[in-house]
Amino acid sequence: MPAAHAYTSDNHDEHLDMETVGAHLAALMAEDAPDRILIAQSLSLLKASALLHFAHEEALMKEANYPNLFHHRRSHNYIANEISVFISAFVSGREATTNDIWPHLKATLDAHIIRHDNDLASFLNTKP
Ligand SMILES: [Fe+2]
Ligand SMILES: [Fe+2]
Repeated sequence: MPAAHAYTSDNHDEHLDMETVGAHLAALMAEDAPDRILIAQSLSLLKASALLHFAHEEALMKEANYPNLFHHRRSHNYIANEISVFISAFVSGREATTNDIWPHLKATLDAHIIRHDNDLASFLNTKP
């Protein structure tokens, strides 16, 4: 399967996976009596799905000699760090600072897709 096609379909599926986990997380946090164990599990899953997706993209960028790999990876690292910061805040009992985790991360991810993932898709689509 050509790299461009693999990227656009797999990438879309992995973005949807992250959205599903994030929406579930937001629903758990919005409950009247939030379940800390389920929220902690959901946060771990969100981080794992993000890291897996970023690793896939970065392997693809390397393989294709993508010239913006450095900046793209830096943006991935920023997002992964944001998730870790939210997890630390939650684990330390600062739920008040984590209530808007998903809206915040969703906005950051959407901006990343527009700025970085779309550029990668265009690059791969121009490769012979
Ligand atoms: Fe990306
Ligand atoms: Fe992506």
